[in-house]
Amino acid sequence: MKVSVVGAGYVGLVTAACLAEMGNSVSCVDVDAQRVALLNQGQVPIHEPGLDALIARNRAVGRLSFVTDAQAAFEQATVIFIAVGTPTAEDGSADVARVLQAAETIGQHLHDYKVIVDKSTVPVGTADRVREVLARALRKRGAIVPFSVVSNPEFLKEGAAVDDFMRPDRVVIGAEDDRAIWLLRALYAPFLRNRDRMLVMDVKSAELTKYAANAMLAVRISFMNELAAFAERVGADIEQVRLGIGSDPRIGSHFLYAGCGWGGSCFPKDTRALMRSAAEAGTPLPLVTAAVQVNEQQRHLLVRRVTERFGDNLSGRRIGIWGLAFKAGTDDLREATSAVVVQELLKRGATVQAFDPVAMPNARRQWPAHAQLQMCEDPYSAADDADAVVVITEWREFRSPDFERLRDGMRTPLIFDGRNLYDRDLMASLGFEYVSIGRPAVLQSMPAQPVVADLAA
Ligand SMILES: NC(=O)c1ccc[n+]([C@@H]2O[C@H](COP(=O)([O-])OP(=O)(O)OC[C@H]3O[C@@H](n4cnc5c(N)ncnc54)[C@H](O)[C@@H]3O)[C@@H](O)[C@H]2O)c1
Repeated sequence: MKVSVVGAGYVGLVTAACLAEMGNSVSCVDVDAQRVALLNQGQVPIHEPGLDALIARNRAVGRLSFVTDAQAAFEQATVIFIAVGTPTAEDGSADVARVLQAAETIGQHLHDYKVIVDKSTVPVGTADRVREVLARALRKRGAIVPFSVVSNPEFLKEGAAVDDFMRPDRVVIGAEDDRAIWLLRALYAPFLRNRDRMLVMDVKSAELTKYAANAMLAVRISFMNELAAFAERVGADIEQVRLGIGSDPRIGSHFLYAGCGWGGSCFPKDTRALMRSAAEAGTPLPLVTAAVQVNEQQRHLLVRRVTERFGDNLSGRRIGIWGLAFKAGTDDLREATSAVVVQELLKRGATVQAFDPVAMPNARRQWPAHAQLQMCEDPYSAADDADAVVVITEWREFRSPDFERLRDGMRTPLIFDGRNLYDRDLMASLGFEYVSIGRPAVLQSMPAQPVVADLAA
């Protein structure tokens, strides 16, 4: 089938590459000429495991192309996916301007029947707006062309996106006409060969399903974070509690990890957008609102821990940061907890030595430069002479580091672990002080070393 994908971001690139891999002819359109040029030079602007190879292979055989010129791409395609960003608007709602802009451009080049598929995460009712924009564009040209608008929210996880797209748990299709449903069944059939996991429903339910999924996951994590604070206070261990409840099939073990707060490109903006549309509809969602509030506090927890230990003035303190990406497997820094932690530490005068295996180039580009923020070569140089190391992202390479090397390089062997990566007994035996989330702290008798400024006084 001939397909076009609008937007060459995390979702658009994965969609385009995976559809091409199944033999479809795909042109991916983006307004960002620099991004398109980079892709045409064989470079991939995002880190997503397996994506580079998929793009290279399908470009080489001519099934996948990247363009800025929408006209040819749209005219040839039967199915056009819209996968552009829907960031938070000032009032908290999802800003669907890019989706409507894409629809407008599609409308200008609509000459025969096409299915326009909304893959971006959009509030309930957006498909109707897309339909109106297309109809208006046709009216302007005096053209009469049949088209269908379908909602097909995307559930891929950054860091495992290619796998998720290739082997989806479900493909949700919100559509009301048989022709569009038939075409999408054909397009998705190769991804659903072992079992049909396509769920066809009305458009509004499909739009809401995406928000419901993300809100549910966000609520689960915030629930665990809330319980983690209680567990700490009463001397329980949230990791044991997690295992205890996760083994109940009614609960399940996923998304029950207490940590330093959720971030990323989806949960924060999608919970805000859902809260906003629900409030507008007169049915506010107190549970989701509470999850967001808990998360706001949680994102500041690691900094609170550091200041409880060293005081609010951190000048002269050197803090190592392990992990900047909002989660392991991606270079995405959108609403990452690391941004809060680094900014707050710098504000209090600390020197911050950060390491992330893939997100440092993005951090250099996206964050303002700061004389006291250093990006380091490896985790050990980030910890070098540090008063503490703060673990923010659960990268595999942080799970079993050379602890002796780490300890011997630090000024104080103190770890604030925002991901509960380490065994407390092991930390104690190695002489670390170890403060994690929702578990009793491991304290050694040795006090923190005074900072150089204190010694001079
Ligand atoms: N990132 C995820 O993990 C994820 C998962 C599921 C759903 N989503 C949703 O998918 C959508 C896209 O997310 P993303 O993370 O891929 O965004 P992104 O910011 O990585 O990519 C969006 C791309 O669209 C391009 N663009 C914007 N307006 C355009 C236009 N009019 N024409 C052509 N290109 C245009 C931008 O230049 C950019 O390259 C969002 O609605 C998001 O909520 C994202």
